Amino acid sequence: MKMTVIGCGYLGATHAACMAELGHEVLGMDVDIDKVHTLNSGKAPFFERDLDDLLATHTASGRLHFTASYKEAADFADLHFIGVGTPQQPGSDAYDLSHLFEAVRRLAPGLTRPAVVAVKSTVPVGTAPRVAELLREQAPAGDLIEVAWNPEFLRESFAVEDTLRPDRLVLGFNTGHSRAEALLRQAFAEIIDSGTPTIVTDWATAELAKGAANSFLATKISFINAMAEVCEKSGADVAELADILGHDIRIGRRGMRPGLGFGGGCLPKDLRGFITRADELGADEAVGMLREADTVNARRRRRVIDLAREELGTDLRGKRITVWGAAFKPGTDDVRDSPALAVAQDLHGLGATVTVTDPKALDNARKLHPGLDYVEDPIAAAEDADLLLHLTEWPQFSPIDPRRLAARTRNPKVIDARGTLDTARWRDAGWTIRCLGHR
Ligand code: UGA
Repeated sequence: MKMTVIGCGYLGATHAACMAELGHEVLGMDVDIDKVHTLNSGKAPFFERDLDDLLATHTASGRLHFTASYKEAADFADLHFIGVGTPQQPGSDAYDLSHLFEAVRRLAPGLTRPAVVAVKSTVPVGTAPRVAELLREQAPAGDLIEVAWNPEFLRESFAVEDTLRPDRLVLGFNTGHSRAEALLRQAFAEIIDSGTPTIVTDWATAELAKGAANSFLATKISFINAMAEVCEKSGADVAELADILGHDIRIGRRGMRPGLGFGGGCLPKDLRGFITRADELGADEAVGMLREADTVNARRRRRVIDLAREELGTDLRGKRITVWGAAFKPGTDDVRDSPALAVAQDLHGLGATVTVTDPKALDNARKLHPGLDYVEDPIAAAEDADLLLHLTEWPQFSPIDPRRLAARTRNPKVIDARGTLDTARWRDAGWTIRCLGHR
């Protein structure tokens, strides 16, 4: 089956490669010509486990191509997925839908025969009718263009796995959607036939599904981080508490790791976008706890800065701080709203000399925060440090020998904001170690 994927960022490039893996003929489209060249050479323009393999295999097999032409995309197929980014608007908590509407506007003139436009981008509820209206007005095929809503629940660093073996498939339609449902069921046949729960619903429920899921995940993380604050005041240990809670299957242990809180291109902006839209709809009282989840999350970052000043004194000028981690979580080079970089930048603003290390995200970090120092080797990064901060829990960091490291620093002091360092081992090696929410 032929299909296009408009927008080839983390979501779209992965979706395009996975659709080719499922046997389809796929044309990916992106306005960034450099990105198109990189993808056509079989490589991802970002780091995502397993994605390079799929891209190399399917650009070579001929099932997968990329273009920068909307016209070519419109001609290529009758099923068009849209996966462009919907970031947070600068200076506001609302979604910036400009890329989405621009994509629809530019695709529309080429839609001269009946087609289905399936949107995967995360949006505020109520966007689907606006997309449908625009297509009706601007596509030559007008009413014969059907709109479907197909939210994506993939996690970065597991994006390929989550796309090929999702927990559930959500298909949102308006009334009179027979062609859209048939085409999407054909596109996802292998996933549906393997027993994946497939929920067919209306546009609004499909749109809300993504924002509500991310809001829940964010709230779960903030819940355990709020408990970490209570643990700190009461001398309890949040890791043990999370373990005890997690044995209750109604609570579960996944997605409830305490630490520095959530960041990335999705959870923070989806939480805020969801709250903003609920406010607009007059449901502001319903999202009070989501506001609190965002507040708790911001407090985690400030707590690390407070601890750093407790260890080094309030005047950080002349102090050398090493930060392990720049990516918003391990397994990715994505630094959007990275808690680690936010803390690093604030400490730099307070006068400290901050050296950051990360296995994958240094290039992206450098572009975003040019005032920080960057060193590839985590041991060399700690040279002469007054304080080490462990802010993104890459598996590469925990096996590093703390005794060897202590000899390189000016002061063997560490704040483990992710709770994954072996506290006893570090203490035995002469370190002062402070952990968020731990005894
Ligand atoms: C998140 C959701 O998990 C996906 O279901 C969703 O599809 C995706 O956003 C999206 O909207 O596209 P992702 O941002 O890749 O996926 O990352 P997560 O693994 O959920 O982590 C998000 C943040 O929360 C990270 O900063 C991570 O360090 C933090 N986190 C996660 C915790 O602090 N504790 C946890 O237990 C889990």
